[in-house]
Amino acid sequence: MEFIDIAKQRFSVRSYTDQKVEPEKLEKILEAAHVAPTAANLQPARLIAVQSEDGLAKIEKAASIYNAPLAIIVCADHSKAWVRPFDKKQTCDIDASILTDHMMLQATELGLGSVWVCYFKPDVLSKEFNLPSNLEPVNILVIGYSAEGNGNTERFEQTRIPMSDLVSYDTY
Ligand SMILES: Cc1cc2nc3c(=O)[nH]c(=O)nc-3n(C[C@H](O)[C@H](O)[C@H](O)COP(=O)(O)O)c2cc1C
Repeated sequence: MEFIDIAKQRFSVRSYTDQKVEPEKLEKILEAAHVAPTAANLQPARLIAVQSEDGLAKIEKAASIYNAPLAIIVCADHSKAWVRPFDKKQTCDIDASILTDHMMLQATELGLGSVWVCYFKPDVLSKEFNLPSNLEPVNILVIGYSAEGNGNTERFEQTRIPMSDLVSYDTY
């Protein structure tokens, strides 16, 4: 499948079947994260793949994960982050999000549904998973088999701003 078709096929799934994600599919998803680029190749992201009942219940104390069988907590390690010298901006949450996007699109290609979750209580998540103070949970990627069918690949005219608002050429 062409990349653009995978990107159009992806949609936010908020209802999942009970079917578990096969270990070989999880491995591929994690490999997609592993090969992602990061600023100066410092690789400041850390992943916690959660599938156990206990682990999922811990996440649910901090976030709604729609009864999915798998959630990957994507953390940024501030002690390993690249820092832009001009304004001291750290890029570790950008890096963490690139890994998240790679995994999300790999999941789509494998026939899995997903939803990217940022609406969570970071303090609760950090406490439940005993995260050290340098690790910030940035995203939760929720994955499983969709109970909502497939996405509408024609929906973007209605659900996205016009290309002309998104892009300008040579000047703003
Ligand atoms: C950074 C980010 C954070 C998001 N956080 C949540 C969230 O906490 N809960 C949720 O249900 N969806 C969340 N979403 C999903 C968006 O609402 C969704 O991607 C957007 O409405 C476009 O719809 P689509 O994914 O179906 O194309 C998030 C998406 C992104 C990229």
